[in-house]
Order: sequence, then structure tokens, then C-alpha cells
Amino acid sequence: MTLKSCEKVSDLNVYETKEYQAFSTNLETEHNNTWESSCIKCHNLNTEYIGYNVTNYWNKTAKKGIDTLYKHVYQGYKGELGIMPPRGSCYDCSELDIKNSIYHLLFLSEKYDIENN
Ligand code: HEC
Repeated sequence: MTLKSCEKVSDLNVYETKEYQAFSTNLETEHNNTWESSCIKCHNLNTEYIGYNVTNYWNKTAKKGIDTLYKHVYQGYKGELGIMPPRGSCYDCSELDIKNSIYHLLFLSEKYDIENN
């Protein structure tokens, strides 16, 4: 028996996970419909406070880990900056769609950070 399954990898900073790193290498060539049809409405470039260019916000957010972020997006989330509706109002989005759009958002933010800061 191995204790591997008890390791809490999902609490890791999203940027440091294998899932994120694997995802982001394919991203340049892939479309993300969930991001484009939903998340972009509130998290696009230059949206006040929560656009992906607000890199200090997203660097801090990434530290919560993918499980917490997934839960917050799925259930909806109220922070100091406002209210996000459950699933970003994408009711036919699957768990995978939502996770991929979280990775997508963080990827855009990381890229923006590298290019501009
Ligand atoms: C109607 C606007 C809106 C839409 C659409 C939306 N969000 Fe949000 N999102 C917000 C707001 C407002 C916050 C909260 C900011 C705060 O106060 O910290 C937020 C916060 C977040 C957070 C941080 C949660 C945390 O625990 O800190 C993540 C991750 C996120 N959104 C991802 C997404 C993804 C992925 C989508 C698309 C499926 C999406 N959002 C769609 C408005 C939106």
C-alpha cells in the first residue's frame, strides 16, 4: 500500500502544479469556449480590479489551489471586489470546462505579468 493518495497536491499554488504546466504548453494553439463565452465578460484585459492583467490579484488567487478555486467558481463567490455568479453563469459547463478556464485565466495573467512587469 502506498500513501500517495493522501498527498494534498491540490492545495498547491496552481502555477506550480503539473496539471497547469501541462495545460499551458498546449494553450497557444487551443480554443477555450468557456473562457470565450463566459469568463471573458468579467475577467478580460483591463476589466477593473479583476481583469487578467491585474496580476497581483491572480498571483494571490493562484495560491488558493485548484480545488478551492474550482469550488468557488462552481458555487459562485463573493469577495471584496464583487460577486461571481455560480459557474460564471455557464450552466452547461462541465467540471473540466471550468477547470480549464481557470487555468486559461491564470495562464493569460502569467503571460501578461512576464511581458509587462
Ligand atoms: C459576471 C461576472 C463574472 C463572470 C462571468 C465570471 N467571473 Fe470570476 N469573478 C468575478 C468576481 C466579481 C470575482 C470576485 C473578485 C473578488 O472579490 O475577489 C471573481 C473571482 C474569480 C476567481 C477567484 C476566486 C477566489 O477564490 O479568489 C476565479 C478563479 C474566477 N473568478 C474564475 C472565473 C472563471 C473561470 C469564469 C468563467 C467560467 C468566471 N470567473 C466568470 C466575476 C465574474
